[in-house]
Amino acid sequence: MLSKFLLFGGVLGGGVQGHLFNYETIQLTNNHLTKIHPKSLNTTSLFSPRQQQQTPKPLQRCKTYPGDLLWPGKPIWDLFNLLLGKGSLIKTIPEASVCYPEWAGSRYSPAQCEELTKSWNNSTLRIEDPTSIRSILFQGMTSSNLNIRLVIKNTGHDFGGKSTGKGAINLWTHHLKDAEFYPEYHAVGEEGYDGPAFKFGAGVQVYEAYALAKKYNVTVIGGEGKSVGFIGGYIQGGGHSPLTSIYGMAADHILSIQVVTADGRFITADSTQNTDLVWALRGGGAATFGVVTSMVLKAFPRIKTTTLTYNFTTGGNFTREKMWEAHRLYVDGFERYADLGYYSYYRIRHVSGELYHDMTSMVAPNTTEKEFREVMKTLWDKWEEIGVPFSPVTWGMRQARRFLPRGVISDPKKRKEIMDAIKGVSDEGANILMFNMRNPPGSERVPNAVNKAWRDILGFAIMFVNWNVATDSGEWVETLSRNLTYEWNPRWKKLTPGSGTYMSESDYIEPDWQESFHGDKYWELLRIKEKWDPEGVFYATNAVGSEKWELEEVIMGHLLSQNSRLCSRN
Ligand SMILES: Cc1cc2nc3c(=O)[nH]c(=O)nc-3n(C[C@H](O)[C@H](O)[C@H](O)COP(=O)(O)OP(=O)(O)OC[C@H]3O[C@@H](n4cnc5c(N)ncnc54)[C@H](O)[C@@H]3O)c2cc1C
Ligand SMILES: *[C@@H]1O[C@H](CO)[C@@H](O)[C@H](O)[C@H]1NC(C)=O
Ligand SMILES: *[C@@H]1O[C@H](CO)[C@@H](O)[C@H](O)[C@H]1NC(C)=O
Ligand SMILES: *[C@@H]1O[C@H](CO)[C@@H](O)[C@H](O)[C@H]1NC(C)=O
Ligand SMILES: *[C@@H]1O[C@H](CO)[C@@H](O)[C@H](O)[C@H]1NC(C)=O
Ligand SMILES: *[C@@H]1O[C@H](CO)[C@@H](O)[C@H](O)[C@H]1NC(C)=O
Ligand SMILES: *[C@@H]1O[C@H](CO)[C@@H](O)[C@H](O)[C@H]1NC(C)=O
Ligand SMILES: *[C@@H]1O[C@H](CO)[C@@H](O)[C@H](O)[C@H]1NC(C)=O
Ligand SMILES: *[C@@H]1O[C@H](CO)[C@@H](O)[C@H](O)[C@H]1NC(C)=O
Repeated sequence: MLSKFLLFGGVLGGGVQGHLFNYETIQLTNNHLTKIHPKSLNTTSLFSPRQQQQTPKPLQRCKTYPGDLLWPGKPIWDLFNLLLGKGSLIKTIPEASVCYPEWAGSRYSPAQCEELTKSWNNSTLRIEDPTSIRSILFQGMTSSNLNIRLVIKNTGHDFGGKSTGKGAINLWTHHLKDAEFYPEYHAVGEEGYDGPAFKFGAGVQVYEAYALAKKYNVTVIGGEGKSVGFIGGYIQGGGHSPLTSIYGMAADHILSIQVVTADGRFITADSTQNTDLVWALRGGGAATFGVVTSMVLKAFPRIKTTTLTYNFTTGGNFTREKMWEAHRLYVDGFERYADLGYYSYYRIRHVSGELYHDMTSMVAPNTTEKEFREVMKTLWDKWEEIGVPFSPVTWGMRQARRFLPRGVISDPKKRKEIMDAIKGVSDEGANILMFNMRNPPGSERVPNAVNKAWRDILGFAIMFVNWNVATDSGEWVETLSRNLTYEWNPRWKKLTPGSGTYMSESDYIEPDWQESFHGDKYWELLRIKEKWDPEGVFYATNAVGSEKWELEEVIMGHLLSQNSRLCSRN
């Protein structure tokens, strides 16, 4: 059976422009900033080197770390805590300290350690700790004019280790949960907009935004993953949505952004002011242009949506060859489904020696169950013919992905080549995740930094490798990891020239990431980065401008260690 209809979806009185949330009303002014550093008011910040005017001295090539001579003493931290509002500064303890008897604070507990080891890959559990992240590989093998590294953590979901860093001051945005609905929001400027909108605080998660949308009988364009932070890495990184095939990217619907810039100022960026910054923050990547405190986003009328989930596995008569044949038949329909506005997300994984396929969600917006069944009937009939054991019903890892452009999927020869390449990496041990979606016509004209390659897709493919942390050897993990980046991903790239990939779920060490994540928008993004953050207050791995910095150590000879010093390349 097809699963139930999902209804998102009122109207309230009002009619106001967004106003500031309480936490946004406490701002550093020019007056404060002059007192902190009178000489270089506009380039100074708590996190950039002393004596900005001079060429950095060797000692200051790197950020300042605990144990360094210049690391602040307790009185300074106490004062900082007082200035922030007592209790806002958290001295963090690594979650894994329960596993280490030698840890100075001695929280050693084998039972808690075992519990943690079992659940380390559960992203939901990593949200409530100020520094814990999902991609533990990058963490575990693991800011005043004090030159301390600054890290912004929201949910810690990022796959690229962008929300962690050794010896850093972490801005933890998770508790900034304010949200407001405007039934009639009026935005002036180039595009103009009159209609419903939400203002979300930096900590609002996708599931919370969906609950509010339902309450006010509207729809918001958010992720499929509901625990993800809405206005952090997701939207700034150009995140996709089950409604992308009809509405485009979430970042296309940002009306206004409140942001604290590298020089400590709180500003508004929208279509009338600081327009370069709003362009960059709409899809150019998080953690590099400023700290976003809130955003105003368009809301849409609610629509009826049919969703489908199913799974099947190889075994008995249903061989691997048949599994790949079933998949090929599905991909033959990519163009039709995406052009009807559908979106799907599914996986083909190695489970207990068999290939296990599960459709996590196929979403058909604005479509009735009857219409949907009619569209899918052709495929299901073919599946029945080849004996797909199918009845519709309602992961340490590293990954890499590549967009599947329309020109490749709609050409039978190129489609076969890419399908063979996808099967090829699966045969060699990789697990596969697939998405089918498009961007609606006209979305390429939205003035923002979303990678142009997004606008031309019919889906994308992800390969991931995983391993057993307890039993697999370092050599094995290294081979898997190197294969992913240097063997398998290049094969897909070669078959999709000029296309790209999605920065927030890409290979951690994606070669030529500037081109893959941003295409020809990179140079403009870099120019905006240098204008708004000339001192490198904000750094995240493979974020715009990060090529000026290096992490001093690598894990297994090839993976950047976030648990090492961040230094300028000069
Ligand atoms: C279970 C799961 C499901 C997912 N589902 C989807 C999906 O359906 N669609 C999709 O497109 N992506 C999805 N993703 C990918 C997700 O969008 C990215 O991992 C994203 O980076 C998460 O952002 P975050 O703010 O929640 O996480 P974090 O890891 O806390 O932050 C990510 C990055 O954003 C920066 N950042 C966070 N907040 C701010 C801020 N206020 N200002 C400036 N920088 C900030 C951080 O420094 C970091 O660089 C999913 C990921 C997971 C783990
Ligand atoms: C919710 O929105 C839909 C679509 O805009 C509309 O048809 C419906 O009447 C609204 N329901 C309520 C209770 O306001
Ligand atoms: C700093 O920037 C502000 C606003 O951007 C400007 O008004 C001021 O003149 C600048 N001050 C200096 C010293 O450059
Ligand atoms: C992850 O943790 C949450 C919170 O405890 C729990 O509800 C969820 O079931 C867990 N997920 C998995 C896959 O174990
Ligand atoms: C596969 O689908 C069946 C329903 O047919 C469901 O009961 C089962 O939980 C699913 N298995 C997995 C691993 O998702
Ligand atoms: C599986 O193969 C056996 C033997 O070839 C055959 O008898 C049986 O009908 C097949 N089952 C299906 C579901 O095709
Ligand atoms: C939904 O479908 C109706 C009728 O087919 C159409 O008029 C409307 O524009 C569609 N809505 C969206 C958001 O695509
Ligand atoms: C975490 O990994 C274990 C196996 O190591 C797996 O059973 C579990 O489903 C994974 N959980 C998540 C949330 O991926
Ligand atoms: C690495 O890739 C090669 C093919 O290039 C393959 O033969 C080998 O099995 C892969 N090894 C692992 C551990 O994935």
